[in-house]
Amino acid sequence: MLVTLRRSLILPLLLAAGPLLAQDSLPAASPRPIQVTDSAVARGRELFHGSANCVTCHGIDAIGTDSGPALAQGVWLHGPDSYEGILGRVLHGIPKAWTTRGVTMPMRGWSTLSDAQARDVAAYVWQVSHAWMVPARRKPS
Ligand code: HEC
Repeated sequence: MLVTLRRSLILPLLLAAGPLLAQDSLPAASPRPIQVTDSAVARGRELFHGSANCVTCHGIDAIGTDSGPALAQGVWLHGPDSYEGILGRVLHGIPKAWTTRGVTMPMRGWSTLSDAQARDVAAYVWQVSHAWMVPARRKPS
């Protein structure tokens, strides 16, 4: 009886710990910066595709267009992939002479983004550009 009870306690524990232990062998994903909250990402997604107008050049879901590079692939042309790095490029833009396609990345994307909105958009861009590193959870079928 005691043995059966112990087994029934230990087995689920081992099963629960298994995936955690297995994660050690995966490449370390960048930890999510504290600024990148679910609500900031949701607001940023809205702005990106709406009034901030990033979508015009960077495409739906930041997949890129002829006027602006994809931001969703985690490949960066102009600086670090950190939240602060991304925010800096959104705030200051990139002069035409520095871009790879002769198109200016306008400061704040030519829109009247407040500082708070710029932070939300940067959170969204961080999220889409790092999503590939963190495999999406499978939905229970
Ligand atoms: C007029 C077109 C245009 C608009 C609007 C625009 N961008 Fe850009 N963006 C660019 C171009 C061009 C580059 C530089 C790409 C290159 O070198 O070819 C760039 C670069 C960037 C980068 C740096 C990419 C890297 O690889 O380092 C970020 C981040 C970015 N844009 C975010 C945004 C966000 C967020 C918005 C909306 C607030 C926005 N952009 C609006 C054209 C635009």
